[in-house]
Amino acid sequence: MQTVLVTGGTGYIGSHTAVELIETGYKVVIVDNLSNSQADVIDGIESITGVRPAFEQFDLCDREKTMALFKHYKIDAIIHFAAHKAVGESVDKPLEYYHNNINSLIYLLEAMKKYGTSSIVFSSSCTVYGQPDQLPVTENAPIKKALSPYGNTKQIAEEIIEDTLHATQGLKAIALRYFNPVGAHPSAAIGELPLGVPQNLVPFVTQTAAGLREKLRVFGSDYNTPDGTAIRDYIYVVDLAKAHVISVKRMLDNQNKKDFEIFNLGTGTGSSVLEIIHAFEKATGKKLNYELVARREGDIEKVWADTRYANNELGWTADTPLEQTLATAWAWEKKIRNIN
Ligand code: NAD
Ligand code: WQD
Repeated sequence: MQTVLVTGGTGYIGSHTAVELIETGYKVVIVDNLSNSQADVIDGIESITGVRPAFEQFDLCDREKTMALFKHYKIDAIIHFAAHKAVGESVDKPLEYYHNNINSLIYLLEAMKKYGTSSIVFSSSCTVYGQPDQLPVTENAPIKKALSPYGNTKQIAEEIIEDTLHATQGLKAIALRYFNPVGAHPSAAIGELPLGVPQNLVPFVTQTAAGLREKLRVFGSDYNTPDGTAIRDYIYVVDLAKAHVISVKRMLDNQNKKDFEIFNLGTGTGSSVLEIIHAFEKATGKKLNYELVARREGDIEKVWADTRYANNELGWTADTPLEQTLATAWAWEKKIRNIN
């Protein structure tokens, strides 16, 4: 049985990926410092899969503990989710973001070299494209100056990986540039748990429907889009998780075509904020209270993925319909709020 280290594995995307890895037959070791998640997510993973993953609670910016982990477990591949991810917070606390997101990666790469772990999947983001000149955006689109320190950590991390691979025989990596991950596991045993007031659209939608928020503010209705609201590529988190399992297997089976491969993970279809609201209402039968307000600073107008490279190379498509995805987000919100 091959062992995959899932950093940030009690977090939103990491927990869904841990489930898919276990169900595919990998042994999973999770490291998380619980800075943005809770330990009982391990129970959720166990309740879905029947297998309890190994869980080590520590900060990956602790180099000694990271090295000790690799000494203890024989790690075949890493999926590196652990990072701070709040765009606005990164503007106020840039050093915390650079420290956390960059040092954790450096120590993992050092551990790979020292302990002979060949393969790493890195969580990157469509934020590296900023507002692309051409849509849908391909992996070859120019990387523009990052719009936030958070976005910059993703750009820098990709460069660190590329330089390390160039200098080191036998290491390989896949960077996955996620578009907008949404939804929860169909069991509603795991899902997204934002701390405080959600910044992202879908958690705000579900919390508004649950009565925790009075109304959803739609940021900007004067964009150059068909209905005036901003467009994103919303991808179901379970579809996203499956692409990680394929990426790990691709490297461990030596199917990768280059040492460093980069893939967009999206659906290839853009949806406006109003389309999300209407799809949510249709999927759940809930009416949403919303109002159109001014644009949110730093937001781009529209972005969606060209997914052909991932579709062809990984043999993977994100094909869960949007309404079904939003229904899972609502089922999860109802579960955690005890709503029938
Ligand atoms: P999340 O916050 O739910 O999960 C990240 C986990 O990492 C958390 O459980 C947190 O406690 C842990 N963590 C953070 N720093 C750590 C450290 N130094 N040591 C140990 N654990 C640490 O976030 P998510 O939405 O699951 O995102 C996972 C990854 O995907 C991140 O790298 C994020 O930047 C990237 N990403 C997310 C999105 C999105 O919209 N959710 C989009 C693109 C990329
Ligand atoms: C989506 C759309 C908002 C909340 C962010 C990061 C990005 C990536 C994904 C990590 C936008 C609108 C939102 C609300 C609204 N993360 N909106 N009312 O901005 O595409 O991307 O998360 O890498 O880096 O920037 O996602 O969910 O915040 O917003 O109208 O209350 O919903 O303006 O058009 P975004 P989001």
